[in-house]
Amino acid sequence: MSNALNQAIQYAHENQADFLDELKVLLRIPSVSTDPEHKPDMEKAARHLAEKLNQLSFKNVQVLPTSGHPVVYGETLRAGSQAQTVLIYGHYDVQPAEPLELWQSEAFDPQVRGGLIYARGASDMKGQVIAVISALESLLAVGGLKINVKVLFEGEEEIGSPNLDSFMQSHKELLACDFALNPDGGMIAPDIPTIIYGLRGLAYFELRVYGPAHDLHSGLFGGVVNNPAQVLCELIAGMHDDQGRITLPGYYDRVRPLSNEERAEMGRLNMGESFYKQQTGAPELWGESGYTPEERLGARPTLEVNGLLSGFTDHGSKTVLPAYAMAKISMRLVPDQDPTEVHQQLRQYLQSRGPKTVRWELDVMAGGPACLTDRNLPATRSLARALEVVWGKKPVYKREGGSIPVVASMQSILGVESVITGFGLSDDAIHAPNEHLNLGNWAHGIDALVHFFYFLGEAQ
Ligand code: BES
Ligand code: MN
Repeated sequence: MSNALNQAIQYAHENQADFLDELKVLLRIPSVSTDPEHKPDMEKAARHLAEKLNQLSFKNVQVLPTSGHPVVYGETLRAGSQAQTVLIYGHYDVQPAEPLELWQSEAFDPQVRGGLIYARGASDMKGQVIAVISALESLLAVGGLKINVKVLFEGEEEIGSPNLDSFMQSHKELLACDFALNPDGGMIAPDIPTIIYGLRGLAYFELRVYGPAHDLHSGLFGGVVNNPAQVLCELIAGMHDDQGRITLPGYYDRVRPLSNEERAEMGRLNMGESFYKQQTGAPELWGESGYTPEERLGARPTLEVNGLLSGFTDHGSKTVLPAYAMAKISMRLVPDQDPTEVHQQLRQYLQSRGPKTVRWELDVMAGGPACLTDRNLPATRSLARALEVVWGKKPVYKREGGSIPVVASMQSILGVESVITGFGLSDDAIHAPNEHLNLGNWAHGIDALVHFFYFLGEAQ
């Protein structure tokens, strides 16, 4: 192993405790992007990260406003114009911590128990952000960073990055690079380093159904007036057939079929049904017939009810016929579905199936298309090599079921591919109570990033 690489790894190991402290500082800031009450915390998290970049003596460090939460930018371009330039993406926002009562320790008071750090955002993705910063710090400390680095941290990923496309449009020059590193992915298991080469897209909607002008006595009017809660449930129930397929008109028209090669490759990643049962606690699995769980997660589209609201849900009973019902509905999309077309398909479905006894409204929320990335990028090969050195085995290539809207946007707006990885695990409870990060895995991740950045510099 070369000297600088050796020294950087040694630096990373010696500063492990400091890196963890840095992570805790960031985790204490409740940067919940969806909640307007947390706007000051968003600013605080952004300023904190900018400060970190300044400490690493990054140049041109800025907290740039958007119509939503700010973007943090910084760069170190000292490797010169012959060297590669990587744009590192991260997001400093997190999902809401609710339901709070299910947390064993407070969501924004990070606690280490049994080698895991518990806090909202520990795995998704403040841990990944600090891993990147720590790896850069380690290389910079020993003069081992031989590439140009630009950093972009956004504050709106968890709400679908609504302002990032226009930000990138107006900052193309600033963000120009050879490729992007996106560490917002995850690993299949602690002993399986993973490179993600595809992500599902998302189309998110709010559907509101209005019936009578106000809540009614269900005895005086039940049987005479149609119940919006029932209508909503019928509409939702009709969105799948008995094979688990989605019934919206034309929904599968653009879905790219899986090739035999890809099916064979996904077959090798087969985790078995018990893996999913154990991780989820569900008594049985469910899904579109004819596809394995890996295929359904990576390469088939879905439709989910994310939330339902209607009528009386407090303690006790109340004989009410509600005036209103609402559902949050989202679809995970695959190549080559188009979020705008899917919106029209949902509208058509509601127009043809929605009864005249109610009125409905449909709002579009977050969204973005699915993407596949080029697996043969030189940078992907460097990452594979780095993961192999640290884990002692070759990484697997996986299509991820989650979404990271910026990856497709970087392809279309900046014309760059992303290398997607991450050191969170599928049982880290991201978006759920007791989110945590495995610190052993995290330390491996920092080592892998040190190797990766170093190998990129060697490739010149
Ligand atoms: N990091 C996740 C996506 C992810 C999860 C990738 C697990 C790989 C493994 C990301 O922060 C996320 O949660 N994205 C949202 C996007 C949405 C709000 C547009 C998602 O997938 O729900
Ligand atoms: Mn997330």
